[in-house]
Amino acid sequence: MNAMSHDHPQAGLERLILAPPVAQVGGTASGDPEAAILARLKPGTVLMMGDNPALPKMPACPRLLDFFKYRFTDITFRHLLTSARKALEAGLEEKVVMACLLHDIANGCLLRSDHGYWGAQMIAPYVTEEIAWAVQYHQALRYFADDSVGYSYPESYVRFFGPDYQPPEYIQRDAAHARGHRWYMSSRLITLFDIYFFETSDPIDPEMFTDIIGRNFREPKEGLGFDRSPVAHMWRTMIWPNNSL
Ligand SMILES: [Fe+2]
Ligand SMILES: [Fe+2]
Repeated sequence: MNAMSHDHPQAGLERLILAPPVAQVGGTASGDPEAAILARLKPGTVLMMGDNPALPKMPACPRLLDFFKYRFTDITFRHLLTSARKALEAGLEEKVVMACLLHDIANGCLLRSDHGYWGAQMIAPYVTEEIAWAVQYHQALRYFADDSVGYSYPESYVRFFGPDYQPPEYIQRDAAHARGHRWYMSSRLITLFDIYFFETSDPIDPEMFTDIIGRNFREPKEGLGFDRSPVAHMWRTMIWPNNSL
């Protein structure tokens, strides 16, 4: 087996990509392409498995910032770095800066729906319980104002979801639970810095957070995705998002 075939085990074959079912159910414009893709299978054509040469190659032992640099969507990349930098400039504790840096990590390259809950699970083995908790509950707290810290319902949500949108019952329940919790302010502070500053922010080098990550995120020595933690599969899915199974 040469290096090339090792990098791309299906080299020489046409590799078809099936989007994750969760991204194609429910009336997207492209509908459900599964049957049409499967109909294209023939000798020399396969369903993609392994590294996709269209994506940057990940290191063998990926670390947190590798996902920022090589996998996250451009908007999430800038949003997380900007939120964390604003929290840092405001003089907040490192645990809050770290929570800001991680809060939308599920949107980066995994799932948007219930992103706070997914994000909290993804990071739970590597951060304090409080940071994971803050990430989980920021999703619900975003919908509810808190005048004591100057947080009001986001203008962007009026645009995103319409003026009459009401979050579902579980979001209302979890926001109420968070408000009475001793870690409430850690999650609430995420929402204060959960703003899109694109027009005003300069490009941010993610390496500026290397030391804060070093103190607040336990990078597994095997690399994220390969440490046999209960969430390793989530990180592998971001490494190989186009695997058909
Ligand atoms: Fe969020
Ligand atoms: Fe956010």
